Amino acid sequence: MLQGKKIVLGITGSIAAYKACILARLLIKAGAEVQIVITPAGKEFITPITLSALTSRPVVSEFFSGRDGTWNSHVDLGQWADAMLIAPATAASIAKMAHGVADNMLITTYLSMKAPVIIAPAMDLDMYAHPSTQENLDTLRRYGNIIIEPASGELASHLVGKGRMEEPENIVRELENFFRSQENGMPHAATAKKEDLKGRRILITAGPTHEKIDPVRFIGNHSSGKMGLALAEECARRGASVELICGPIAGKTQHPSIHRTDVVSAAEMHAAATALFPKCDAGILCAAVADFTVAECADEKIKRGKDGMTLTLVPTKDIAAALGSTKQAHQRLVGFALETTNEAANARRKLESKRLDFIVLNSLRDEGAGFCHDTNKISIITADDCTDYPLKPKCEVAADIIDRLCAIFG
Ligand code: PMT
Repeated sequence: MLQGKKIVLGITGSIAAYKACILARLLIKAGAEVQIVITPAGKEFITPITLSALTSRPVVSEFFSGRDGTWNSHVDLGQWADAMLIAPATAASIAKMAHGVADNMLITTYLSMKAPVIIAPAMDLDMYAHPSTQENLDTLRRYGNIIIEPASGELASHLVGKGRMEEPENIVRELENFFRSQENGMPHAATAKKEDLKGRRILITAGPTHEKIDPVRFIGNHSSGKMGLALAEECARRGASVELICGPIAGKTQHPSIHRTDVVSAAEMHAAATALFPKCDAGILCAAVADFTVAECADEKIKRGKDGMTLTLVPTKDIAAALGSTKQAHQRLVGFALETTNEAANARRKLESKRLDFIVLNSLRDEGAGFCHDTNKISIITADDCTDYPLKPKCEVAADIIDRLCAIFG
């Protein structure tokens, strides 16, 4: 499939630049002609001598050749290539490509490129997940570039995340698939950005609630809101308009399609959710809502005494059950179950009693799952099925949940 194909291979300044040697070798083995364009930072990681020896062509890096002063024409390269592959692509180069910052030979070649461009990002998890990088990648997708999602890499003993450049063998396979689909007149799968929630309005509850005891104390829980925020961002990214109801959390929302209502208590969350749900296509109830609230909140700070004290607690309103009982045929409702024992049985009981379409079970017995972690490990339970997922970053867990939600929309 790559026989005779002319590939401009762009290399930027990442530790993954060494993999570009393997990539160049695989492309040549598959019959392609490879012209390497490297950024100044890329040369810090891998020498042009190695690369030109591998490709039997001088490596292009500067606007003018250092040897004889001739001009390296990025325009000619743009017309010569059948495809441009940028691997590894750093966050900085991705940003420059998205914004047309033509300050090196690679970016000018990219901007002059007439052929399709395929980009394999490489950076650490936080840089990859940052909304700025994601926005820039979305911009490049809008320009018609194909992004090869980074592979999952071990970042710490319990944390697995995206960011590591995809393996050269897989990049070559993507390139072959691209040329194959081009020959068959089919759009390549990687160009299709998921917009499967376009036109939908989704209600999401997130974070804890605080039930006031007196002006300085409250009953709360450990929810950080990370899972709920990840769900809100994923829904918005996939085209939904999101009504996010948040208990007291520090986290911020990024996407402009998220409309956020901040609340404190279970009663306030109940009022906001029941008011907004009728206008929504689905509700995802991720908040850790207090099951009990204080019968009477003291007006003044309760003073310390010699004796113990008893607080009278009364049950809060169950938001999930309230929405479940008013749910219309076109609406979908997803709940969460946070359990410590008899996980699946308890989750199933909640699925039925709250009239949920499915419930997302997470257990505090699983390391890295539940409150505060950047990761979660879930099972999705429906009336007749249970799917277990491995431990993943919460942004990927959110994508799995939204995939399931999209699958049950009529
Ligand atoms: O916020 P993070 O730190 O990222 O942590 C995420 C999480 C652990 C909070 C989240 O993944 C989670 O499990 N959320 C639900 C926690 C919970 O309260 O579970 P539950 O089993 O007690 O409640 C069952 C369902 O009923 C939930 O959908 C809950 O939102 C809902 N509920 C509960 C009580 C109530 N009064 N009203 C409700 O709607």
